[in-house]
Amino acid sequence: MSTQTDGPAAERRLGEDLLVVDGLQKHFPIRRGLLQRQVGAVQAVDGLTFSVRRGETLSLVGESGCGKTTTGRLLTRLIEPTGGRIQLDGRDISHLSTSDMRPLRRDVQMIFQDPYSSLNPRHTVGTIVGAPFRLQKVQTENGVKKAVQDLLELVGLNPEHYNRYPHEFSGGQRQRIGIARTLALRPKLIVADEPVSALDVSIQAQVVNLLEDLQNEFDLTYVMIAHDLSVVRHVSDRVAVMYLGKIMEIADRTSLYERPMHPYTVALLSAVPIPDTSRRERRERIRLQGDVPSPINPPSGCRFHTRCWKAQEVCKTTEPALVELAPGHQAACHFPENAA
Ligand SMILES: Nc1ncnc2c1ncn2[C@@H]1O[C@H](COP(=O)(O)OP(=O)(O)O)[C@@H](O)[C@H]1O
Ligand code: SF4
Ligand SMILES: [Mg+2]
Repeated sequence: MSTQTDGPAAERRLGEDLLVVDGLQKHFPIRRGLLQRQVGAVQAVDGLTFSVRRGETLSLVGESGCGKTTTGRLLTRLIEPTGGRIQLDGRDISHLSTSDMRPLRRDVQMIFQDPYSSLNPRHTVGTIVGAPFRLQKVQTENGVKKAVQDLLELVGLNPEHYNRYPHEFSGGQRQRIGIARTLALRPKLIVADEPVSALDVSIQAQVVNLLEDLQNEFDLTYVMIAHDLSVVRHVSDRVAVMYLGKIMEIADRTSLYERPMHPYTVALLSAVPIPDTSRRERRERIRLQGDVPSPINPPSGCRFHTRCWKAQEVCKTTEPALVELAPGHQAACHFPENAA
């Protein structure tokens, strides 16, 4: 997919598609009774189609329960899709067996939301960051210890702290440890699942900036997951807004933030502080009400209709297709905002 951007991507010179996702689906079966008969399914991810170019940052944004983490786990093949296809670097990885996945484990890495539970408390930082080398049996020029110390330095940690344990570090430092581990094998794609939302607001920007610096240095491709549009604003090249397992809107950063078309995006943006007071007033009127409905039995037609202030009869009966309404800007809505 070619898109126009005036974000950081324009400066970074994006390559060809690295990741191509087509109709991606994950339904978790719900089983009941002695025979464990399937009585339904959690439609966590329900037909995602998008691509990410080499060197690009695509952000996935939506409220809790929209299927972002499930998408991240599918892309890194921690779980297997129920339907659809994932291609990495031209290779179909949707249903690779565990043994075929081994080389893939180097190429695709995930940074987890919680830097507390994703690091083994009984292992030293050296063991944690060096684990990928051992697991993948990778030879390092001057030994694993030196490689680990280089990585610690790279993420802004003291390389002398090699023998310390996770609890001796702050939350931000622990997330840096996680990032160092992720970088060990020079992955092509990093999926970062809300990498800063468990951290103090005061240090969120530092970690986001670190990820951005590392991207520039190593030409990394990111899928960045966030529940809040403000966190990813300046690091995203493109943003996909998810709701109940589907993409509601996808566009380059500038179009999405300045000319949002989907009412859900508009509502999410109303939670983002903006300096312009006249616009703020307008946005406050459309603050989101209630919670995300259950993905076991999602609303008919447009999945957002139970919470949308623009909903009409047609929204309950007919699902709007995700279509391009401006160059590089797709939205799934019968009554989009800001459309030509
Ligand atoms: N292993 C699982 N089994 C059943 N349901 C799951 C599983 N993992 C996630 N879900 C459900 O799928 C939906 C999407 O979850 P998730 O991908 O974690 O969303 P998000 O990261 O956007 O909060 C939620 O309703 C969640 O309860
Ligand atoms: S299709 Fe209807 S309910 Fe869905 S977002 Fe658009 S206006 Fe709202
Ligand atoms: Mg999540």
